[in-house]
Amino acid sequence: MMSLAWPLFRVTEQAALAAWPQTGCGDKNKIDGLAVSAMRTALNGIAIRGRIVIGEGEIDHAPMLWIGEEVGNGTGPEVDIAVDPIEGTRMVAMGQSNALAVMAFAPEGSLLHAPDMYMKKLVVNHLAAGAINLALPLADNLRNVAKALDKPLEQLRMVTLDKPRLHKAIAEATQLGVKVFALPDGDVATSVLTCLQDNPYDLMYTIGGAPEGVISACAVKALGGDMQAELIDFCEAKGDSAENRLVAMKERQRCLEMGVEVNHVYSLDELAGSNDILFSATGVTGGDLVKGIQQVANGVRTQTLLIGGADRTCNIIDSLHSW
Ligand code: FBP
Repeated sequence: MMSLAWPLFRVTEQAALAAWPQTGCGDKNKIDGLAVSAMRTALNGIAIRGRIVIGEGEIDHAPMLWIGEEVGNGTGPEVDIAVDPIEGTRMVAMGQSNALAVMAFAPEGSLLHAPDMYMKKLVVNHLAAGAINLALPLADNLRNVAKALDKPLEQLRMVTLDKPRLHKAIAEATQLGVKVFALPDGDVATSVLTCLQDNPYDLMYTIGGAPEGVISACAVKALGGDMQAELIDFCEAKGDSAENRLVAMKERQRCLEMGVEVNHVYSLDELAGSNDILFSATGVTGGDLVKGIQQVANGVRTQTLLIGGADRTCNIIDSLHSW
């Protein structure tokens, strides 16, 4: 997989470059469309037989990079691809920070193949690996992680998303004395930040997108952290209504067809079952993980975080692109 590091990093770079000029345009779909088409073009120039195992949606929702889509030039290794062309389309549309173009490559058959639905996720770094169990209540996990890190709950730092479905969890954690960082969007960056050295967070708990979950699992695996995740249906994430029940029913049917289970706790190995993994994230708008695209004399500068699982490397790549 390591020989694909350079081509992969160029894919997320191209997607970020395509989306960035539209920062602040207010149109999420336009931004996504530009990134998707740049990614597809870049992917189809690489010597792989790639398959999108988890991404933005199904074939009928084209022009997305749809689940099951085959990409690459049709030669070379078979590769599982997890993709979110722009992680934080709303952030780019609103000119806010922390938006990334992200993708992960892994050997064929090693990534969880699941629909684009909601996923509950719990991530810790290598110091607390083995201390999490998503089948237990959040409070038990917070206590167990604090114990593994040998710190009082008052010093434990949990990062999550500030979404209505997570307000109960935020209240539970703060009542225990845990310090909670509730960000508006972007759980890939927070998963990675949780596992990096000098990490600003001790654990990440959220309910967000499943593609973001599998992409995060690739980085967590490569960085030696730990993660568990559970697919949850639309009603559990967004509340019960006739309309939501219809979405949930379709999700459950799709899960059956794809051989995955709703409300089953998946381990890190089930999410990302190989160490030979590559993860690439290029900043679109600036954030804590990587810098956003910056205009410089005669061009633009991009920053990409490229993580390789096989040799446990983390490269931060600054590139200058001429007009
Ligand atoms: P997208 O821009 O790809 O939608 O992702 C942004 C994000 O915040 C993810 O990090 C998170 O997993 C998901 O959205 C949460 O979903 P929702 O926007 O429906 O709350």
